[in-house]
Amino acid sequence: MKLFRISFLFIFLIFEFAINAQTSNKIALVKGWKFTTENDAGFASPDFNDVRWQNIAVDKPWEKQGIKHDGFAWYRIRVIIPSSLKDNAELKDSVIFNMGKIDDFDQTFLNGSLIGVNLSNVPANTEPDTNYKNLDYSYWNNNRRYSLSVNDPRIKWDAENVIAVRVYDWNGLGGIFSGDLYIGMPDLSDYFHLENNVSNYIIKNNTVSKTIKLRNSSHNYELKGKLSVVAKNKLNQKHVLDKVFKFDLNGKEEIKIDILIPRQDQSSVVNFTASIIGSNLFINRHDETPYILTPPVAETPKLNGAPVYGERPGKPFLYRMAATGKRPMKYSAKGLPDGLEIDGKTGIITGAVESAGTYKVALTAENSLGKDEKTLTVKIGAALALTPPMGWNSWNVWGLEVDHNKVYAAAEAFVNTGLADHGWTFINIDDGWEIFGKSDSPKRTAEGKMLTNEKFPDMKSLGDKIHSLGLKFGIYSSPGDLTCGGYAGSLNHEEDDAESFSEWGIDYLKYDLCGYRNIMKDQNDPAELKPPYIKMHKALLKQNRDIVYSICEYGNGKVWEWGEEVGGNLWRTTGDIWDEWERLKQIGFSQVENAKYNGPGHWNDPDMLVVGWVGWSSNLHPSRLTPDEQYTHITLWSLLSAPLLIGCDLTKLDNFTLNLLTNDEVIAIDQDPLGKQATPVLTDGDIQVWKKELSDGSYAIGIFNLGNNTKNFTLYLENIGLPDSIKARNIWKQKDIGFIYKGKDFRIPSHGTLMLKLSE
Ligand code: GLA
Repeated sequence: MKLFRISFLFIFLIFEFAINAQTSNKIALVKGWKFTTENDAGFASPDFNDVRWQNIAVDKPWEKQGIKHDGFAWYRIRVIIPSSLKDNAELKDSVIFNMGKIDDFDQTFLNGSLIGVNLSNVPANTEPDTNYKNLDYSYWNNNRRYSLSVNDPRIKWDAENVIAVRVYDWNGLGGIFSGDLYIGMPDLSDYFHLENNVSNYIIKNNTVSKTIKLRNSSHNYELKGKLSVVAKNKLNQKHVLDKVFKFDLNGKEEIKIDILIPRQDQSSVVNFTASIIGSNLFINRHDETPYILTPPVAETPKLNGAPVYGERPGKPFLYRMAATGKRPMKYSAKGLPDGLEIDGKTGIITGAVESAGTYKVALTAENSLGKDEKTLTVKIGAALALTPPMGWNSWNVWGLEVDHNKVYAAAEAFVNTGLADHGWTFINIDDGWEIFGKSDSPKRTAEGKMLTNEKFPDMKSLGDKIHSLGLKFGIYSSPGDLTCGGYAGSLNHEEDDAESFSEWGIDYLKYDLCGYRNIMKDQNDPAELKPPYIKMHKALLKQNRDIVYSICEYGNGKVWEWGEEVGGNLWRTTGDIWDEWERLKQIGFSQVENAKYNGPGHWNDPDMLVVGWVGWSSNLHPSRLTPDEQYTHITLWSLLSAPLLIGCDLTKLDNFTLNLLTNDEVIAIDQDPLGKQATPVLTDGDIQVWKKELSDGSYAIGIFNLGNNTKNFTLYLENIGLPDSIKARNIWKQKDIGFIYKGKDFRIPSHGTLMLKLSE
């Protein structure tokens, strides 16, 4: 008993000591922040008096605290930094200022001097950049962590310090919104960086491999330790890899390690755990390996793409036959309406059809191994986008750093990777091609025509080059004076811009509300939202081109209820997507209320795809969605009949991503000409079943597991409104699984899916 008491006391003492040590090593910056939406360089100064500023929390964006604001804002806090902080620390040479996640851009000042900008430390006496072109927004979801030498004159030891943060929020939620904000002394592990997302896994023969990086960001400390890598099959939990790597990193050294994991027919969960001699902390990361479900494309000819295509009478017609198989391929089309002709070598059909009508065209693709035939229904009438648009958009990959070459590289990649042979058509430039709003350069010619910036020297020739590949060309603008990126918009120049778009050969316009919100009283009032969209629609209709019209106003005022009425072929139903499961889940699984408004010519748009290398800037990373999450993404978007716009660097396509985007049976669900959006028909704990009616009378379903563990699920046909006996096909595997009688057991990986086609 005595022994027990003594040891208990001992444990208690250690525990106490650990807590004290931790608290004395850190000063929390949670409470005491002041805030203003004004912007003045003087706010950085320690002498500035901020008493009249409002109090603000730093664990949620300012909108969630009742502040409706985009643009600049400032945060300030006063804090005493005691020298005991460094005296008690083991490593005494630098101090960390951890400022949490900041949406979008930050300049962080200490006592009037800049210490960091968007994740980077800045040397003493650096003047803040007031060239607003460099207000990068792509760091919004990253924790800002700056460090200064303990001797840095910007720190006032044992005295009051003022931290001031200038934030710029482009749109949507803004400000310091999450994270552990503190001033503290580093542990050795703070200098150790385990970077497991600097490359993606490549599947090759029987292995899945990738390179990870271990980096020492300190100048002087040696980091010695061990990295253990454990991979387990995600479905049966069996170990497939158990490996330990020793490392010894000198100051500023980095090493690469190749991780090779035996290939499975589902993901392996890979856990990386690093420990460093001299630190008690473990550094953990995990990811999941990709697996391929789609069978390889056959060498024999196969015609893909939607079975129906629409253009307006008399407008330039452009249709590229989508066919896979060995090259060379010979193409033909019988029954083309008058005015059209086909290039037999490329399968590109061009011309113009004067008479409205429905034409059945027999398409043929032939190579040395065989021939495929397919009927294409060409509808010459008022409606465009008879199936959801499929293409590429620059935003999720390049953000405002898009340029002519990047766009043309995407068009070439559509052809070279074979994506175009599966029906991918549009190459769309998003924001960033216009003249920057705050620059001194004229935004328009003397005649009022929009100028392009130096990154797009010749829009017309870019359009011509894209068209010569048989692909279509899209662009972006805003009904406001400025776009979301701060570039010139179309306000009061709608007709001028529609004319320019037509001259450049534009086939698709994304029209993004953004700057127009400044002149609105109520951003959710359809009466205010409709007029700018109607105005541009009218201007587009006057052009001698068909221009698919994409409305982007984030779902405000239930756009699905009136998007078609204002001429929209598609409309965004939500705010922006990004490559995180929570965001994907929030957007994808909430597309319910709008379902009945979806249909040929008018589509709900839950935003673009976040697979492959993305980054919203030149700073790219492989999608942070796991392979199962990516299967869920493409499955759900296809069931929803959503527009499919790839948003990644197509010159960096790995085989998993390419497979994900080229499964013709999955694409056919999205492109089904009935255009019915799936709805949820069953929820059972973490499992959701979504069901979509198809034009041939069959159904496609997705069984999704939204939970964090693999789930067994018995699908009872009667629970999803289907007869007792039904033929089932696994769409991703393109394989029949036979008849299901009454019900069947399935095992669905966490965040993953099973997509079936069910027919009587
Ligand atoms: C908004 C849109 C995005 C993108 C950017 C461009 O955020 O929702 O899709 O177009 O603007 O600045």
